Amino acid sequence: MSFDVAEQLALHGGPKAKRTPFPKGKRHGELEKTYLNEVIDSDTLFFYMGTKVRALEKRFAEMCGMKHCIACSSGTAAVHMAVAALELPVGREVITSAITDMGSLTGVLYQGLVPVFADVDPDTLNMTPEAVRQKITPKTGAIMVVHHAGLAADMDGFLALGRETGLPIIEDCAQAYRCLYRGRLAGTMGAINAFSLNHFKHITCGSGGMILTNDDKLRYHSSIFLDKCYQRDEGIRDPFFLAPNYQMTELQGAVALAQLEKVEQIVAARNRLGTRLDALLATIPGIAPQKTPEGCRHGYFLFLFRLDLDRLRCTSREFSEALAAEGVPNRARLITGGMPVYLYRIFQHRSAFPGSEFPLEGRRYGKGDCPVAEDAFERWITMNIYEHYTDTDIQEMAHGIAKVARHFSRAPSTTQA
Ligand SMILES: Cc1ncc(COP(=O)(O)O)c(C=O)c1O
Repeated sequence: MSFDVAEQLALHGGPKAKRTPFPKGKRHGELEKTYLNEVIDSDTLFFYMGTKVRALEKRFAEMCGMKHCIACSSGTAAVHMAVAALELPVGREVITSAITDMGSLTGVLYQGLVPVFADVDPDTLNMTPEAVRQKITPKTGAIMVVHHAGLAADMDGFLALGRETGLPIIEDCAQAYRCLYRGRLAGTMGAINAFSLNHFKHITCGSGGMILTNDDKLRYHSSIFLDKCYQRDEGIRDPFFLAPNYQMTELQGAVALAQLEKVEQIVAARNRLGTRLDALLATIPGIAPQKTPEGCRHGYFLFLFRLDLDRLRCTSREFSEALAAEGVPNRARLITGGMPVYLYRIFQHRSAFPGSEFPLEGRRYGKGDCPVAEDAFERWITMNIYEHYTDTDIQEMAHGIAKVARHFSRAPSTTQA
């Protein structure tokens, strides 16, 4: 299909590129209702006495070929459990990506550990093993890999670095259900790996999280960490470390269990649509979709593309506004709200805890720490692709991008996408 990229911008009164409305998807249905009814009929919402949270853990572990899954109340909780399970001494450093959600960092800080940020690859926006290597010091305790936007990071590189240094790898897979890295699922390669079930994720139970591990000791620690360090299985209530209550309720478990049955289909549909949009954008001068490395299956939690500002005369914000006017929702801020996470006030002011700079005493986070990540906010546009979108939606989204790119082009273009 071809379209007229020479049309006037919708921003200037021309017709919108997105001519048909996006279809409405439905995320929850009969299976969720059935499982929820079963929970209500069982008369307990408490995971330890119910069956749904346990069934969720069993099913997710099986689906991923892992020994243990432990469910909890959020992705933030899951990352916290993963970090805590490593039992790193206070003050040790955890190296992670400059572009991630605060949920990757909350547990690090609560454990008295120090986040250290490593730069990202300019084509994928995933943290690179080379950048991490530069940040390793005698204080480093772990490496937390974030599979940003649903694209697996360079796990061979990270696993090799882990073997070489003895540092454990945590995978933050909040955005990366069923994403493949050279035949292996994201979340099955690190020592202990976290997922989120929040509203925005591929699958959701409103709020929830899960971790995966093959290690019995890490499983044990996580399972009591989410429960105030009560050792229910042993019938012991004698906490020996500080631990929150991160329990998942049976209601969340019921919905999450039903959602699991759809996750492969959701990711496959997004992958098909995203791959199609990638191909269309590859023909548009000035536009470069996020690069999917050989052997990876992208889950398109987000669809990202980069503006070539040598070829386009605009800022990412101007591009974003013109594209939104075409009827194509998008953001020019990436997932962090417009800055690498280390520029958040909590790091700038070392204000994790009131009246104290703990655990960031003497730390300086500032502009220039991760130049590629900082530059990304000037050039990248983020969109969502949902599994219920049609090929027409994808065509029209590409049309909008092509139109806006042509408008801002420094050179006259004849491209038809
Ligand atoms: C990479 C990453 N890690 C952790 C989290 C935290 O998950 P939750 O919102 O379920 O606490 C998120 C959520 O957006 C995320 O994207």
